[in-house]
Amino acid sequence: MPDTQHHTVLPTGRRADRCPFEPAAELTALREQPGLPRIPRYHPFFGEREARAVTRYADVRAVFSHEDIGADLNADPDAPRTLFNQPGFLLGYDGPEHLRLRRMLAGAFTVRRLRELGPAIEKIVDEHLDAMEASGPGADLVPAYALPIPSLVICDLLGVPYADRADFQHRSAVLLDATRPEQEQFANYAAMHAYMAELVARLRAEPGDGLLGEVILEHGDEITDDELVGFGNLLLIAGHETTSNMIALGTLALLSSPDQLAAVRDDPEVAPPAIEELLRYLSIVTYLDRRATADVDVDGHRIASGEWLSLSALAANHDPALVGDPGLDVHRKPVAHLAFGFGAHQCLGQQLARIELKAALPALLRRFPELRLAVPFEQLQFRTFSPIHGVTSLPVTW
Ligand code: HEM
Repeated sequence: MPDTQHHTVLPTGRRADRCPFEPAAELTALREQPGLPRIPRYHPFFGEREARAVTRYADVRAVFSHEDIGADLNADPDAPRTLFNQPGFLLGYDGPEHLRLRRMLAGAFTVRRLRELGPAIEKIVDEHLDAMEASGPGADLVPAYALPIPSLVICDLLGVPYADRADFQHRSAVLLDATRPEQEQFANYAAMHAYMAELVARLRAEPGDGLLGEVILEHGDEITDDELVGFGNLLLIAGHETTSNMIALGTLALLSSPDQLAAVRDDPEVAPPAIEELLRYLSIVTYLDRRATADVDVDGHRIASGEWLSLSALAANHDPALVGDPGLDVHRKPVAHLAFGFGAHQCLGQQLARIELKAALPALLRRFPELRLAVPFEQLQFRTFSPIHGVTSLPVTW
């Protein structure tokens, strides 16, 4: 049996027992403690270690953008490959090397490319709503809607065949399940690597018009196949796991607050700020680690070179210093939340995620104005063991 206490994303991502959306009482208590308290932290690659908890809005923002605090994953060529120990895994790089790789990807995430994707996303949304309507009333929103929409979009964007979705969705679910034994993780990553290496080889020969192909066309001589594999796997996972959990959990949060749901459904002006508010309120990315590369001060607190920091976007985004009352308020004027991170590693896919959420969430509520849970709330299962918070299945009816 997995040691749940060690593998749960603890405690900077922990949610309240009474509400699976909001920070747990002990996380709020950490934020109220002076200084940057030391906490035990389990890391899927490095095992057990101590970290300084960074939970206040101003501190999290300062740490994200501090030049002497980096990701410092120190990819180890002798250790078995994992997503985190793989060239091209952007989140593991610092400084000029990070910038070199990030620029290649950012150059392909153009406004034009995203704008062109817009109609395709709306078509994907409509097709999935039609299919739900035809087979309903009643569906599990995760496999019927929340997962396939971002999966199709990221396949389209990258040039990955959607026919392979069952395999890559399974592999990324294993990768993000911190309870799986190490050996299973290594074998899983080997399969993931082999798949992407084959795709990269095909794209080298025929780049096509996807994003990875564009990186090859523009920077083919400056980037290795191994780095392209890391890019591809990071984008494939980041591209569908995050947005799909936002669609399902965002729907659930609105179902739990019927007046707010009605406002998002009925008033097109409310939808865009509501998406921003849901991103803040849910802060689904709970795994945000950093390491000091020199002795530094954060808000007057000394962090020694080499110390690990565990950042909580969830606690920061619920900090009364940022939002006053941190409860969900879809009418809130958008605030500068940290759900996409901040600084050098700030999410490269955030505009795409916004486009997808704005297309998927309001359209679902409008197509099924009577949308409601098909099971008692207490029966729902949450992704306790994942660096990305979400609901594993969401039975709904209409
Ligand atoms: C609602 C959806 C999403 C959320 C909440 C989210 C959140 C985040 C966060 C918090 C980070 C920073 C992590 C850190 O600093 O350690 C990040 C980085 C990143 N995200 Fe997203 N993300 C989302 C969607 C996407 C999508 C759709 C893509 C790609 C198509 C994407 C690609 C990336 C990449 C490549 C990075 C790494 C950037 C770097 O290291 O320079 N994300 N994301």
